[in-house]
Amino acid sequence: MTGAYEIIDHDYDVIVVGAGGAGLRATFGMAAKGLRTACVSKVFPTRSHTVAAQGGISAALANMGEDNWRWHMYDTVKGSDWLGDQDAIEYMVREAVPAVIELEHYGVPFSRTEDGKIYQRPFGGMTTNFGEGPPAQRTCAAADRTGHAILHTLYQQALSHDAEFFIEYFALDLLMDEDGSCRGVIAWNLADGTLHRFRGHLVVLATGGYGRTYFSCTSAHTCTGDGGGMVARAGLPLQDMEFVQFHPTGIYGAGCLITEGVRGEGGYLTNAEGERFMERYAPSAKDLASRDVVSRSMTIEIRENRGVGESGDHIHLHLEHLAADVIHQRLPGIAETARIFSGVDVTKEPIPVLPTCHYNMGGVPTNYHGEVVTLKDGDPDHVVPGLMAIGEAACVSVHGANRLGSNSLLDLVVFGRAAANRAAELVTAGQAHKPLPSEASDKAIARFDQQRHASGGSPTAKVRLEMQQAMQSNCAVFRTGDVLQEGVDRLAEVWNGLADLSVTDRSLIWNSDLVETLELENLMIQAAATMNSAHNRTESRGAHAREDYPDRDDENFLKHTICWIDDDGAVTIDYRPVHLQPLSNEIQSIPPKARVY
Ligand code: FUM
Repeated sequence: MTGAYEIIDHDYDVIVVGAGGAGLRATFGMAAKGLRTACVSKVFPTRSHTVAAQGGISAALANMGEDNWRWHMYDTVKGSDWLGDQDAIEYMVREAVPAVIELEHYGVPFSRTEDGKIYQRPFGGMTTNFGEGPPAQRTCAAADRTGHAILHTLYQQALSHDAEFFIEYFALDLLMDEDGSCRGVIAWNLADGTLHRFRGHLVVLATGGYGRTYFSCTSAHTCTGDGGGMVARAGLPLQDMEFVQFHPTGIYGAGCLITEGVRGEGGYLTNAEGERFMERYAPSAKDLASRDVVSRSMTIEIRENRGVGESGDHIHLHLEHLAADVIHQRLPGIAETARIFSGVDVTKEPIPVLPTCHYNMGGVPTNYHGEVVTLKDGDPDHVVPGLMAIGEAACVSVHGANRLGSNSLLDLVVFGRAAANRAAELVTAGQAHKPLPSEASDKAIARFDQQRHASGGSPTAKVRLEMQQAMQSNCAVFRTGDVLQEGVDRLAEVWNGLADLSVTDRSLIWNSDLVETLELENLMIQAAATMNSAHNRTESRGAHAREDYPDRDDENFLKHTICWIDDDGAVTIDYRPVHLQPLSNEIQSIPPKARVY
């Protein structure tokens, strides 16, 4: 017993937190290597947000035209606005090809070409011949439900291995040693109210992104940055949090994703004058320019009074001209989503869309093995023993300042597998555990208990809304120093409001009031890191568009931001260098140049 709580202890070789694409790939990869593996997830695995990924997973398979991993690497480095680490990018794009074939062999029901190969569609920023050739058909798709297909297949694989699942367990905090190594994680079983202390030689955070810091986003309600919250409370930094991706085509009002695959299949955007305005902003790639470019162009159109609708505040996405069988075979999901959430029959009318928060390029800094790194004693790549992060929770950094569509599903499976490979090198199955320091869980339980009994005057939902409104209006597609400073001040006030939270349900069983409060604490850490890092970066790069600093400034800002948030919300910022050297000598470093599409 610790205080009023009974704690149930478990020992494993490795603990994976999160059961989306990255978490599941890591879980069964580790189990397959003979490691005793536990996977702890706050939702049932097939409800993880990977299920919502639509358009596809990139790999230079060359099924539908010439392709090459080097072109994929070039596009990814350029898409990242040169903030991506080129060693990690080379690793990802080369591993992409075997990773997708592996998925096919596991049973992912990819769409097919006439001759039975995996179907690949064009996606934004994916080109041939180092940006000089026509768009690449590189994004492997299972209609417009690719994430659903992959997640279910990975879960089936996981069930066929000897991993143990702790489902609907909410991870509260990391268990850290005095020497700064991670030794496990403490979690709350939502179904019966018990607390569980998991010891592991490695903890792998696969907890997803933090889209719910924003009022309007394509992310599930569960995307609350729980891994980043635990990392910050363990005194470790988050990286490149200022880079938030706005997907050009969220449904106006509802925020639901309409895949970029629509434009890959020939869909296009128009303004109130019926003009295909992307031709002005990106004469070569047009509607298939990189996401940050398209989102900014749409925002400018709306600002300059060329938005559509009664209030002129959104844009039209057309696919009425596409053949019925293309919609039926390749885009059935979005046809249904558009009907339900905007009342539109996509064969007859355009879909009303708006740039919507979609993805976090920032996260827990790692190397390409998935090991968490920090700046320590002058070493920018110091590995934190016992801790890994993968998927959207991590910042490897393969996406840098802007991710290309379909590189996210790829990131999940490639680095989930990389983490399993690394774990097998670092951990011997059945290796003995050192005793945990006695106070390792005390702080986590005290925080849990305090929130459970929070008896202030502000409901969690009210404080969360204040945070989301500050993020939505002060840290959007375009930013200025003044607006960001106001955002920093607004969030500081919201942080003070955390002391006045009110949790009305004191029970330990299915207490969603308490879950949302714990999630809010995690979200607030991500929001504060994002707003402060954005205020600090006085340049424009990728998704971070500063109107007061419109140019990229490689001299001063070709570096990763790292940001510590302490328990009182105080922010410390420092930097890590970008890895500009690739992994092998089979490709040369891609030097920074102007980024035009
Ligand atoms: O548009 C989409 O289908 C989203 C894909 C992605 O974010 O990778």
